[in-house]
This record gives sequence, C-alpha cells and structure tokens, in this order.
Amino acid sequence: MTAPRTSIHGEWSTRLAFILAATGSAVGLGNIWKFPYITGENGGGAFVLVYLLCIACIGIPIMMAEVLLGRRGRQSPINTMATLSAEIGHSSHWKYLGWAGVLAGFLILSYYSVIAGWALAYAFRTGSGVFINVTADGAGSIFGRFIADPEKLLAWHTVFMVMTTVIVARGVRSGLEKAVRFLMPTLFVLLLVLVGYAMNSGEFNRAVSFLFDADFSKISADSVLTAMGHAFFTLSLGMGAIMVYGSYLPKDTSIARTSIIIAVMDTLVALFAGLAIFPLVFANGLEPGSGPGLIFQTLPIAFGHMDGGTFFGTLFFVLLVFAAWSSAISLIEPAVAWLVENRKQNRVYAAAVVGLLTWLLGLLTVLSFNLWSDVKPLAFVEKFQNSTFFDLLDYLTSNIMLPLGGLLIAVFAGWLMDRKATMEELDIHDHLHVGYRIWRVLVRYVAPIAVAIVFLKVTGILDVINNLF
Ligand code: TRP
Repeated sequence: MTAPRTSIHGEWSTRLAFILAATGSAVGLGNIWKFPYITGENGGGAFVLVYLLCIACIGIPIMMAEVLLGRRGRQSPINTMATLSAEIGHSSHWKYLGWAGVLAGFLILSYYSVIAGWALAYAFRTGSGVFINVTADGAGSIFGRFIADPEKLLAWHTVFMVMTTVIVARGVRSGLEKAVRFLMPTLFVLLLVLVGYAMNSGEFNRAVSFLFDADFSKISADSVLTAMGHAFFTLSLGMGAIMVYGSYLPKDTSIARTSIIIAVMDTLVALFAGLAIFPLVFANGLEPGSGPGLIFQTLPIAFGHMDGGTFFGTLFFVLLVFAAWSSAISLIEPAVAWLVENRKQNRVYAAAVVGLLTWLLGLLTVLSFNLWSDVKPLAFVEKFQNSTFFDLLDYLTSNIMLPLGGLLIAVFAGWLMDRKATMEELDIHDHLHVGYRIWRVLVRYVAPIAVAIVFLKVTGILDVINNLF
C-alpha cells in the first residue's frame, strides 16, 4: 500500500518554510555554544576534520533518510515507524525507535533550556553595560558568580521553557516560522561582524591553525565519538525531530537538495562561531578547553571593547536565544504530535504536559553547576568519575542515543524499506542515478558501519576482538 497519506497536523506553507524550520532546528546552541567548547576540549583541527567528515558522510544521508521516512509516514515518529514497518511486513517494534527519540528529545531539552537561559540572562547583562571594558578575569568571574546561583539559573530556565511551550502549543506555523525568516539571516550577519572584530583584535592566525591544522596525535577514540555525536546533535538527527518536520513537508519538494542546504548552512554557522571565538581565546590567554562557559567568558570581552558593543552584544545574545528557541521546539514536537494523535489531546494541553516534565528534569542541570557540582552519579565508572548530571545527560544523549537512533534510521531506510519507495520519495526514476546510488551506499554501508566501529572502539570491544587475532 503506497497511497499518499496526509498529516493531521497540516503542512508547511512552502519549501522555504521547511528549509527555515529545519535550519532553525539545526542551528542553535549546538553551533555557537557547544561546537567551540568541545572543539577546544578535543584539541582543535583533527577534531574539526572528523566532525566535517561525519556531517558529509553520515549526517547528510541520514538527514535525507529521516525526512524521507517522515514524509512517507506523515505522522509523529512513533506512529510513522509503526505504519512504515507494518507496510513492509516488519515487526511493530520499530515504533520503539520513535519512543527512544521522544525520550532523547526530552532529555536534551532539559539541559538545553538551562543553557538557553544563560543566553537570555546574558542578553540583559550585556544590555546593562556591565561588560564595558571588561577584562578576561572580570568576564570569568561574572560568569562564575552567575552559574553559582541556582535561583538565577532556575528563573531563566523557567522563562525559556515557558517560551518554548507557548510556541509549541500554538503550532509551529503561526509564530516561529515568521520570526525565524528574519532572525536567522540577521544572526548570520552578526556572526560575520564578530569574525571581522576577531580578525582585527584577536589572534586570528593562531585560531585558524588551531581550527584547521589537523594533528591526529591529539585525538582519541572518545574524541571521534564526540565529533560524530556532535554531527548528529548539530543537525538535529537521530531522534525524530527532522522526521516530524519531514512529515509536514509538501510532496513536491526535493529532499536531497534541501538536506544539503540545511547541512551547509549549519556547518557555516559553526565554523564562523569558531572563527569569532578562538582569536579572542588566544588573545586573552584563555584556555580553549575551559568547557561550557567558553562563549560566555570570551564574547563579552569582544563586546566590551568594541564600538557599539553594548548594542551588538545585546543583539547577539537575543539572536542566540532565538536560535535556541527554534531548536527547542523541534525537541518536543515529536512527543506533542504523538499526544495529539494517540491520546487525542489538544496541542495546548500536550505541550503543557511535556513542557512541565522537561522543566522538572532541568533542575538536575541547574544544580549541576552549583549545589550539586560535587555530585558525580557514576563516579564508580572511571570514565565518568568527574561527570555531573549535566555531563551525563549530554553524554548519554549526544554520544549514545542520537548515533544509535541514526544507525537504526539508516538501517531502516537503507535495508528494510522497499527500494522503490525510497526512489519515489527522493523523486528518482532511474536506477542508475548517481546521486541515488551514492546515497544508498552511504546509508546502507558507510553510516551504519562508521557508527558501529566508533561504538565498538569506545567500549573497548574492538580491542578485545583485535586481540583475538
Ligand atoms: N541542533 C540543535 C543545535 O545545534 C539542537 C537540536 C534541536 C537537536 N533539535 C534536536 C539535537 C534534535 C538533537 C536532536 O543547537
């Protein structure tokens, strides 16, 4: 049965609307906050190269697979997986892939919202002028005092969760689609302005060589896993966010072309963020590996010394909040769509329930930076000796759940789904089409095998197998 289905939640108005929504989902804290600090922690160049390879060879093909499954199923990821697997006579257990995605989205948003709260707070702080002529030490201690205060973090986390819930409750189309249309290009331009500032005032050449000179001796199996996990995270893959957005995609849109556009834009934003931040890190004697506070300790220095810095700084953090906002909604959309489909809840109620649960779980992250900074729940595992709840949530989702979800999506689209069905969704009518064949090789072999090897390597299983021979 291949009768075209329609989505009960509606469709994007145009192809551009989908590109904006999916780019809105992809571009977020992952690009501007996370990419620079994990690049710093993992030694730069070689890490960036592995990340770029993962985007091209794993990220793009899996993004196409996710959009394709979503558009074919036209429902929440849980029901899409159930429907599509039934259609090809496979076990309905595939719906648990949808469930795992719902869980991952909920776990990610719980900490994502806390960090987005930092960006909100920084929009106000920058606006108040506290960073004018600030030194590196000054910016560091302002940040230190901020995260040491659980009440402040909680308050901003609450504000951000309310913002997210309200938009999801209203349906994506009426509010955010319009805002994102205007905000994303502005963010892009502002990042370029910051890169320009960093070129003139920072150690730009050192930053470029840090980011692009690959020194593979600095990289471990764990760094490779982090790079791969981040490729999933930054493109919003592996948990059904892009699948649910794909389910609202009009029939005649090219999945390949749009996926590539989204991935390229996402990657450019991350690289510009790196080029804006690292020159300042080096010029101010900061530590590239100083962790999640990196952008909050470096960018205020730039804004504090730049003409019009108070204005541009405020604008920058406001835009960062918008980028995070358009990502956050995609993290709970799969859960909300499911509640609407199966439980016949209205969107407002569904969004409120999911939002409240996420808010509660967010308390773990709020406390990870202050009262519970010494709580190391998995201290008995050597690798996680120093990991707080926040670190563990991040590791579990980015490094395990998303790659595993992506692997299963690739297997489903590449091995189980009828070849004809995938060709039809990708609008390809010739078996020998080069693009289609490349996609198929990537999604059947390259992506699943790469993910599997990295997992085996990190868990040490690969070494055990090696020793056998
Ligand atoms: N991609 C977003 C970012 O880089 C975060 C995000 C949104 C996400 N939706 C997702 C990550 C789904 C993983 C899965 O900030």
